[in-house]
Amino acid sequence: MNTKVPSITGWKLFWLIGTLVLAMSALLLALNADPVEGTRSVIRATARTSFALFLAAFVASSLNTLVPSDFTRRLMRERRYVGLSFAFSHLVHLMAIFSYGVLNPQFWPSRNTLTNTPGTVGYVFIALLAITSFHVVSRHMTAASWKRLHTVGMWVIAAIFGYSFFKRIPTMSVLYAIPFSMLCAAVAVRLVGKWAQANKRRQAHARGSYHNVPSPNALESLS
Ligand code: HEM
Repeated sequence: MNTKVPSITGWKLFWLIGTLVLAMSALLLALNADPVEGTRSVIRATARTSFALFLAAFVASSLNTLVPSDFTRRLMRERRYVGLSFAFSHLVHLMAIFSYGVLNPQFWPSRNTLTNTPGTVGYVFIALLAITSFHVVSRHMTAASWKRLHTVGMWVIAAIFGYSFFKRIPTMSVLYAIPFSMLCAAVAVRLVGKWAQANKRRQAHARGSYHNVPSPNALESLS
């Protein structure tokens, strides 16, 4: 009997996650009698779905190096779609923020350039990472500049998540220390994973150059 579970990959995975994020948002709005509070719940909930998807994309490669398994290999393969799902979830976060601004006229006046700057920078990077995930755009970039943009972008977004959770620990709830600690753990996994990858590359490179060094016998045969 074939018990293989059909796996959802690529764009199907993206649409599945996107549909779940939209369904969750619709449910929160439907369950909340007050549309203002409902919209605020959507802002919070999409920040959390975005965080989970971002973490998965952030550690995928390192996790696959440190603890290779079927799951980490699949996560690594689907990294692009998980990343795009994160961008979609955060687009819903943005749409909910604008709706909240309309429903609650005190929202935007209560904010200023300083409080909006980290989020705005975050959205600029999310947009850049998302559009450069498409070959039609990325083919105009060198591999090195693509890599640099994606590395810097991922770290900037991680820092904004860290800041968003950390600032809520003293003002809102000590429970925000949980996602903040999860982010710290993910940073450690990513750093150790990248270090292990660099080490592997160095060793492979050293082995490659060792094999290219002619042995004394080869030198003798050349002389
Ligand atoms: C200018 C852009 C942004 C604005 C105006 C904004 C606004 C908000 C608002 C109003 C909340 C809900 C606060 C509450 O009711 O507790 C929120 C929550 C949050 N946002 Fe954003 N946001 C922006 C961009 C971002 C970005 C780029 C990120 C991450 C990369 C982010 C991550 C978060 C997180 C982690 C939360 C907390 C969710 C929770 O309560 O668990 N936001 N944001």
